[in-house]
Amino acid sequence: MGGGGCRERSVAKLGRFRGRIAVVTGRTDDRDAIRRAVAGCDAVLTVLAPLGVRKYASRTAQAVLDLAPARARLVFSCGWHITRDGQDRYSRLFLTAVKVATWVARMVHYGEIDDQVLACRRIFQSERLWTVVRGSNLEEGESMGLPVWSRHVGDPILRSNITRRVDFALFMVAAVDNDALIHEAPAIVGCLAPSALAHAGVLTRHRQGEGCEG
Ligand SMILES: NC(=O)c1ccc[n+]([C@@H]2O[C@H](COP(=O)([O-])OP(=O)(O)OC[C@H]3O[C@@H](n4cnc5c(N)ncnc54)[C@H](OP(=O)(O)O)[C@@H]3O)[C@@H](O)[C@H]2O)c1
Repeated sequence: MGGGGCRERSVAKLGRFRGRIAVVTGRTDDRDAIRRAVAGCDAVLTVLAPLGVRKYASRTAQAVLDLAPARARLVFSCGWHITRDGQDRYSRLFLTAVKVATWVARMVHYGEIDDQVLACRRIFQSERLWTVVRGSNLEEGESMGLPVWSRHVGDPILRSNITRRVDFALFMVAAVDNDALIHEAPAIVGCLAPSALAHAGVLTRHRQGEGCEG
């Protein structure tokens, strides 16, 4: 049976899954809770939430890196603002938005976006079997299918910067069985987003497209 870690106040939200998944109650930076949640797991999916002001994201990431079984596939979520190799190309507007959001979140004690950066740095340095899925802006709605991805923000396929939330989750689950994504930080976009469709059209016409997977 699969399972998940969940804050006590949110356990009721998982009621419809009762009997189908095991729920470990506790904060995801609580190492004892994580130890119990990941025991015996083949794969661990972790939402890195840069919320609160007590290093929640980096403590969560560290707990999973330290405590998941040795051969477990580890898949983490974050945003496009995370860069692995410094080769991402961001618009000035994007960088300004990240800077303002980081400052505002910290001022009102809502969250620490820079702690998600620290969390990912630790993951990138790890030899565990990790994938860091970098999400674009999200929208609600039914699944459009598996998002497409690229190694670097700024690549034309990602230009639309929009993914359905449910498809972000779909990509994380699919990554578990995709060994090509081990030690990758794919930046994703919805497969029916205009930039993804335009890229698919180019591929069809020119039968090329190294660096992008769909
Ligand atoms: N939102 C976007 O547009 C966007 C864009 C790109 C990437 N992402 C990435 O997508 C992932 C999900 O982001 P999201 O914005 O959609 O987050 P979210 O759903 O608002 O929050 C994610 C989880 O964090 C928990 N949480 C909320 N407040 C908390 C607190 N104060 N202390 C501890 N846990 C708390 C919630 O758990 P409960 O279920 O217990 O409430 C929730 O399930 C993140 O990794 C984010 O970096 C988001």
